[in-house]
Amino acid sequence: MSAYSMHNQDKTCWNCPAIDLAGMVDFRACGQSLQISKARSDDSDTYILARCKRNPGLGVYDPTTITFAECPEWIERPYGYLLRDMRVMILGIDGYLGWTLALWLGNLGIKVSGIDNYNRRNWVKERGAHTVVPISRMSERLHAATSVLGIDINFREIDIMDRARLAEFIDEVKPEAIVHYAECPSAPYSMIDAEHAILVQENNVLGTLGLLFIMRDLVPETSLIKLGTMGEYGTPLTGRPIFEGIFPADAILKWDNREWSLGGELTPRDPVSFYHVSKVQDTFNVYESCKYWWLRSYDVMQGVIYGIHTDQVAADERLRTRFDIDEWFGTVINRFVAQAVIGFPLSIYGAGEQLRGFIALEDAMQCMVRLIASPPDPGQYGVVNQMSGYCSIRSLAETVAEIGSQEFGLTVRIQRVENPRVEADIHPFEPIYDNLPKEFAFQPKVSPEMEIYRMFELLTQPSIKQRIEEKKHLILPRTWWSGQKKPVETLEVIDEVEYAPRAKVYLS
Ligand SMILES: NC(=O)c1ccc[n+]([C@@H]2O[C@H](COP(=O)([O-])OP(=O)(O)OC[C@H]3O[C@@H](n4cnc5c(N)ncnc54)[C@H](O)[C@@H]3O)[C@@H](O)[C@H]2O)c1
Repeated sequence: MSAYSMHNQDKTCWNCPAIDLAGMVDFRACGQSLQISKARSDDSDTYILARCKRNPGLGVYDPTTITFAECPEWIERPYGYLLRDMRVMILGIDGYLGWTLALWLGNLGIKVSGIDNYNRRNWVKERGAHTVVPISRMSERLHAATSVLGIDINFREIDIMDRARLAEFIDEVKPEAIVHYAECPSAPYSMIDAEHAILVQENNVLGTLGLLFIMRDLVPETSLIKLGTMGEYGTPLTGRPIFEGIFPADAILKWDNREWSLGGELTPRDPVSFYHVSKVQDTFNVYESCKYWWLRSYDVMQGVIYGIHTDQVAADERLRTRFDIDEWFGTVINRFVAQAVIGFPLSIYGAGEQLRGFIALEDAMQCMVRLIASPPDPGQYGVVNQMSGYCSIRSLAETVAEIGSQEFGLTVRIQRVENPRVEADIHPFEPIYDNLPKEFAFQPKVSPEMEIYRMFELLTQPSIKQRIEEKKHLILPRTWWSGQKKPVETLEVIDEVEYAPRAKVYLS
């Protein structure tokens, strides 16, 4: 194991969720850095003191003196030191990412708990769609996790909006990290009509706000890993870099012959749908909670996830995660592969020159463990742009077409259709995504080609291909940002697919 992978070795009890700071910290330091607090502590020996919940015998001590590398409760694991039998609660554990993460964490010896109210299953059903990779009921999933992988998951069917029941469960489990996936993840679903826009914003914004109050009251030392999206930023036409949520220290604003440092301020957001607006509202609510109450959070601005594989979900059919291809819930690369499998032209919206950040399912799981292993400082609102590379939608379609035709003998065509969204389809794009590799030692392991190949292997199985065929009428979008409901027209059919160069994926 390389020293580099122990990215969290120098963190101390100050970052550890097993610390009890309440009552022993002067909360006037709220929002200020540890350095400032420490400087003040020169005047008083008792400025920052704590107790260890796991080892009360230590008494009251300075939490910055024991590192994770020194503490016997933090154990060397593949993605850094991990707290022994760490308790992690996943909100939205039945979803595409939640279920995959539950098995990934369970496999590392983490004590996994989670809630879900099956909103996603119901929303997909409401649209007349289905996951093309069949998934089991939760009871069967839990049983298979235990019997196949030896992982016991403490699941409770709870709506995150039901604060009383959520608080009861959190109080019972006392999670040391909470991963919050439990939101509606769809931009087009939020653009269907007023009812859907309101539902998405209520569910996402109010669910998260209620959670923050519960954490304040019951588990203020627990780190919150909250899912945002790269879509919060939009694609600024100035071409300025898309920083990781917060301006770096040397960013300068010049105006009227004067200049100011922007360092530490939240960067502008330009969300691209009512769903994305809900994520921006979450950003501010989480940011404020860290400021007011010393909660600690990482906001994960996630690129588009693609893929179907981890060793755990592939271990048994009952352990598979969902895979959607309809216009509301399918994400772009997953949709392209499904379209290629049934000979449906890969549909690019507009020019297809939109540049987007992407990350494979397995790499996204690696990032989440690294974030869980390295909790933020109390009061810290940290942001990571979670992606392993970026490229144009058109070059992605070309990569899918190439692998589908050359490796699987499929006839794959590409078409450009009208863009029902309001977005720039030709724009500059300079995302910064340094924090995960630099601070958390994240290294992507899965290339787009490898994961696309694995998706083809699974989706070409006759029973799954049949399920794609059954829902192919839901592939082309009818939900326009203008409010119209009409099928998009084809603008161009690209018969001559250029296979070289491959999708230009800019890996960090
Ligand atoms: N998949 C991606 O490409 C992607 C990209 C960027 C961000 N995200 C974000 O990541 C998170 C997870 O995404 P996903 O693709 O796994 O979505 P998903 O819909 O598969 O998972 C979300 C889960 O949360 C549950 N849920 C929703 N509302 C709930 C409520 N009120 N109470 C309890 N459970 C509730 C759903 O039933 C579902 O199982 C979402 O917040 C999404 O916005 C996803």
